[in-house]
Formats: sequence, C-alpha cells, structure tokens
Amino acid sequence: MAGVAKTWTVLELLRWTTQHFAERGIETPRLDAECLLASALGCDRLGLYVNYDRPVDEAERARFRELVRERATDRVPVALLVGEREFWSLPLRVTRDVLVPRPDTETLVAAALDAFPDREAELAVLDVGTGSGAIALAIARERPKARVTATDVSPAALAVARENAARLGLEDRVHFAEGSLFEPVADRRFALVVSNPPYVAERDAASLPPELAHEPRTALFGGPDGTDVLRAFASQVRDALEPDGAVFVELDPAQAETVSAWLAAAGLQEIATHRDMTGRVRAVGARRRD
Ligand SMILES: C[S@@+](CC[C@H](N)C(=O)[O-])C[C@H]1O[C@@H](n2cnc3c(N)ncnc32)[C@H](O)[C@@H]1O
Repeated sequence: MAGVAKTWTVLELLRWTTQHFAERGIETPRLDAECLLASALGCDRLGLYVNYDRPVDEAERARFRELVRERATDRVPVALLVGEREFWSLPLRVTRDVLVPRPDTETLVAAALDAFPDREAELAVLDVGTGSGAIALAIARERPKARVTATDVSPAALAVARENAARLGLEDRVHFAEGSLFEPVADRRFALVVSNPPYVAERDAASLPPELAHEPRTALFGGPDGTDVLRAFASQVRDALEPDGAVFVELDPAQAETVSAWLAAAGLQEIATHRDMTGRVRAVGARRRD
C-alpha cells in the first residue's frame, strides 16, 4: 500500500487490508479493516458500504496506515484504536485505563435484569470493579428508577466511567466511588450487586492473546489461579445485600463450581449458573434469603 502512486478506493483498501490482517493472524480481518477505515475517514461502517468507489486521499490514507500498523504489528485492539466500544447497544468510550467491555458480560447483565423484571423498580444497585462503567450504565439504562453505585480501585478507570455516564445522560443516577471491593460502600445494602472482577490466572499469562497486553493488568489478573478477587468478593458480598437481594458475578467457566461453593459458605442461597448463547457458563448468581 505504501508508496504506490495510484488512487486507492475504499473497496480496494478494504480488500488489501483484509488480506494483510488475515496473513498476520488477526481473527476478524474484514471487520477490523472496516472499523479502522471508517474511523480514519470519520464515518461509520455503513458509510463505507455506500462509498466503495470513493477515492481515499493521501491524508486519510496516512491516518489509516498508522491504524493498520498498530493493529497488525502491535496487536492493539480495534476498540482502543478507535476509542469506542458498543456494549448493550450503548456506545462507550474506552482507553488503555479500562478493560474493553466484552459481549460475554452481556450474559451477566441479562441475568441481573431477569432477576428484577419490574422496569419501574426503585432498586439500589452496586457494580464492583466498574471499569468503563459498562455494567452499571447498562443496568441504569434498563431500570430508569434504579440508583447505581459503581466502584473501582483504579481512579483512571473511574474517570472514563464518569465520562461515559455523562455522555449517556446517566450521571444523576450512577455514582462512582474509589476503593477495593466493598470498602467504599461499607454499611450500605443493595438489592442487586453485580461484578465482573479480574479473574484471569497469572500462570496463563504467557499463553494469552497479544491484544490483552494493552489492557490494565489490574483489570485482568486475579492472582496465580485467577480467583483471588473472586474469593474475597464471595466471602464479603452477603453483608452488602438487602434481604432478598441478589448477586451476579462473572467468571471463567472452570471457576463456577468453586465460586458457587464460596457463595454457599458465605450463607447465600438459590445459587445458579448463567450461560451465554453458546452454552458456556459466564456468571454465577445467588440470593440472600435470611
Ligand atoms: C474485568 S474488569 C471489568 C470492567 C467492567 N466492569 C466490564 O465488565 O467491562 C475488572 C475491573 O475491576 C477493577 N478491580 C480490580 N481489583 C479490584 C478490587 N479489589 N476492588 C474493586 N475493583 C477492582 C479493575 O480496575 C477493573 O476495572
């Protein structure tokens, strides 16, 4: 692509880049090429489809070339290159200070909403480890009378989450607090507690996709076997729940049995697993019934 004295069209650039990404082992080469070209041209993907024959000028190509290099060579995730990721149909700003929200986490949001089906309920909700604010903001959007508290140990992540709340007009009902686990909300009780804590095993670090190197370590790793934060969360969550309150926590399928046992040991009941559309366990839920 570089240095070739010819006019490139949108379609030609997409074809070239898709092949380049495929050769470099990128999992979704066409989709990534489209997202990056749309970003370089300042349009959305639909804008590409209706402009396949549009010539791309040198300044636009220079912007695109740099994005393609960062994706193919440095393996920077597309969401971080374009600065945005959609979660639960909400456009969220993302930076290197937060985990890029994953579709997997929508399983947890769906399970939590199912447990509180009344859209008008005035729920007190807690999201522990909010990152970009993804879970807290999705629940606030779906339950317009809920008051949501979202915590994180990372002040930089909280700044991104605050910005997302403001962009979505949810800042009046979603409040943020810095600190570990339940420390920022000591003595408070919630109808619903949700969390997607760091649960990747440090011992697996060497075999992880290179893209993960661009996300914060505190967002990913939960100690040697991944369960350090899960264990502390499970042992403390009961005291943060109102009577009949519910908790949903995301985890790796291999951790579901262990975490279920910890929740039971902490005095919670109605422990259940929640699966994604492929049948993979993505979350465990429980209720306080005493
Ligand atoms: C896997 S990310 C989840 C981010 C977001 N909730 C999502 O689902 O996209 C985990 C988040 O938990 C935060 N975190 C890590 N340890 C924590 C702790 N002990 N207490 C509170 N938050 C913590 C990290 O900073 C990170 O933002």
